[in-house]
Amino acid sequence: MTDLTAPKRPTHIFNEARFEANLKELKTFKDSCGLKILLALKGYNPLHSSELVSKYLDGVAASSINEARSSFEHYKGEIHTYCPAYDENTFDELIKYSSHIVFNSHQDLERFAGQVPNNVKIDIRLNLEHTDMETTVFDGYNPNKPFSRFGITATEFKPEDIEKYSVTGVHFHALCSQGAEDLDRCVKTLEQKYPDLLHQVERLNMGGGHLVCHDDYDYDLLASIVRRLKSTYDLDVYIEPSEHVYKNVGVLKARVLSIIQNDMPIAILNVSAKNHMPDVMESPDYNVEIEEGIFGRNRGKHSYILGGNTCLTGDVIGDYSFLHPLEVGDTITFLDQTAYTLVQCHHFNGVGQPDLIVMGSDGQIKFERKDTYERYLTTVT
Ligand SMILES: Cc1ncc(COP(=O)(O)O)c(C=O)c1O
Repeated sequence: MTDLTAPKRPTHIFNEARFEANLKELKTFKDSCGLKILLALKGYNPLHSSELVSKYLDGVAASSINEARSSFEHYKGEIHTYCPAYDENTFDELIKYSSHIVFNSHQDLERFAGQVPNNVKIDIRLNLEHTDMETTVFDGYNPNKPFSRFGITATEFKPEDIEKYSVTGVHFHALCSQGAEDLDRCVKTLEQKYPDLLHQVERLNMGGGHLVCHDDYDYDLLASIVRRLKSTYDLDVYIEPSEHVYKNVGVLKARVLSIIQNDMPIAILNVSAKNHMPDVMESPDYNVEIEEGIFGRNRGKHSYILGGNTCLTGDVIGDYSFLHPLEVGDTITFLDQTAYTLVQCHHFNGVGQPDLIVMGSDGQIKFERKDTYERYLTTVT
């Protein structure tokens, strides 16, 4: 039986009660203003808790044939599928799993709209070329940066295609961990750049990137945006968040394997930035919080560099300060590690991926998945 407070192997613990609390918060909010909410599965696909997603939300957003198929097999409600480009070899299958399909370009719309059955609704994705993202955020997270491949810009937009291809919905995704004020500006940009378009469709999907489930998120402003859009244009309004629906849901438990000295103490862990925390590698300002100390050097009595057990020099999680000295065998608990981590874990250097333990809402282990040698073999051969 795994010791959940100090597991020997890298272990991700998913707290279903907290996930349900976030879903309930979203449900109460959406019911209060008539918003529809889909869970975007790209951040994490919680198949072990799919019944909760279906109970509280309107459906899911899929970004590949695998996500669409697992949505069809495990979730109730709407399945909105979006890929930057579709593949003629798999489109037939993909469309069987989808209730809505979002086209990224007029080229794909022209190519595939004829294969979409009448019961599947068609959306197009717009590129608002609008960004309020903080400059400290890694540029690669900005879907609207210059030369972005996501969505149709105002210059490329062909209004005649709306009727021609029975497009009934509009989609944009322009935010990255941002508040309702930023969303408000995006919506105004959309209205200004594509005048009349919202009058012609039945749906507006405002993508993900919303800081929902955070204490200071301005739900009142989001509600007023939704109400204004619904009353002005008579359409359904959606968001499809992923990352922040997992706020406070999952932790990654790591163990200190060794402590060495090179000008300052360096703790080598059984988890790594490279294998387990991709955002740390990509974004210089991405700080993972831990339970046992604080991020940053000299913020507590004892500072350490925390690094991974791989050959990559840059595989460093960061500087952390602790009240007490670290010892070999100590546990370090990295907070908020569900979204965009488990789905991007790999076996670089053959280092193990985390085991997954789902604590059910009743406090019992609901699901357990070990990262075995056989799992490793499937990724190398
Ligand atoms: C089209 C689309 N929808 C939704 C999301 C989810 O965004 P987030 O996890 O920031 O809420 C993303 C993230 O990349 C996306 O590309």
